Amino acid sequence: MTMVRKIQPPLALMAELTHRCPLQCPYCSNPLELLKVDRERDTAFWLGVIDEAAELGVLQIHFSGGEPTLRQDLARLIEHATSRGLYANLITSAVLLDGAKLQALAQAGLAHVQISFQGAEAETADRIGHYKNGHAKKIDVARLVTKLGMSLTVNAVVHRQNLAELPAMIDLAVALDADRLEVAHVQYHGWALRNRAALMPERAAFEAADAVVEARRRELLGRMAIDYVVPDYYARAPKTCMGGWGQKFLNVAPDGRVLPCHAAETIPGLAFERAGDRPLRDIWFGGAAFEAFRGTAWMQEPCASCALKDVDFGGCRCQALALAGDVAATDPVCHLSPLHDSVLAMAERESVAGVKEFVYRRL
Ligand code: SF4
Ligand code: FES
Repeated sequence: MTMVRKIQPPLALMAELTHRCPLQCPYCSNPLELLKVDRERDTAFWLGVIDEAAELGVLQIHFSGGEPTLRQDLARLIEHATSRGLYANLITSAVLLDGAKLQALAQAGLAHVQISFQGAEAETADRIGHYKNGHAKKIDVARLVTKLGMSLTVNAVVHRQNLAELPAMIDLAVALDADRLEVAHVQYHGWALRNRAALMPERAAFEAADAVVEARRRELLGRMAIDYVVPDYYARAPKTCMGGWGQKFLNVAPDGRVLPCHAAETIPGLAFERAGDRPLRDIWFGGAAFEAFRGTAWMQEPCASCALKDVDFGGCRCQALALAGDVAATDPVCHLSPLHDSVLAMAERESVAGVKEFVYRRL
């Protein structure tokens, strides 16, 4: 039986201010075709988005990119968001920040900073991010974040080429006095799909990482929370991507398009409306792209008759398209998908094929 679900306002809005970024992480989740600076929207546009989000009932705004600190108006946007009662979070590589810039953001009301780390050792991290001395810079900025009284989350994306450093990455997050560490195995969208063979961990390494996270979670209980995103190619059940399509989150892309998830533009045939052209409220509650995979009515078998369809909503639509070639298919990482075994075999093959070099990209 399908539950009748009332659409709630979104909890959080991801404001992707720019696609520009000084780093070139091989697992970047941004689209393959990045938007250039002349496609970015101006300050007045984003102030309007913040007003509409607050009126819609959004609680948190994540300023993201690309690298959001490349925007000269970031402090102004943070100030406006906090004045409208939104909890402001910055998702950053941190390499362009310094004490004065960070202080200005703190004074504007920034509550939380998430800094990405590409490894625990400078040599590993700088190679992966393709940015010289970036690791040392991140450590300096992370220390300033807590000194200025803001909450710190360390984001650690893990994969075959840095998984051995996971215990040291956890130690680093503790030493930086982070409130939270997010350990996320690479999700294979965007540029990550292109580098999949160089990133896919071996199953044994993944299982060892699992055990490390579990043990350190227990040890650090009450001191630092550890969130963990497993590598779903090795999973039996898919993750509830985005908390369900059009249920909790929305993204606004640098050019103003409103998306149900960061990778949604890989899905052909969806018409994405622009904030400013139509009220954000109308786009959320009735926009065609949000309605397309909201709830369960769109599902095929085996999802359509599955007891878990209101729990995981059939997994990730973007992954279903990338792996099954059908956006309405069951996410192939689900063990009930007819493609599950071939996806798992492909992951295991790639994990031992010995590909080491990354394909980096430039805007
Ligand atoms: Fe989820 Fe569909 Fe798999 Fe059931 S069949 S567990 S609803 S992905
Ligand atoms: Fe788009 Fe999962 S990333 S639905």
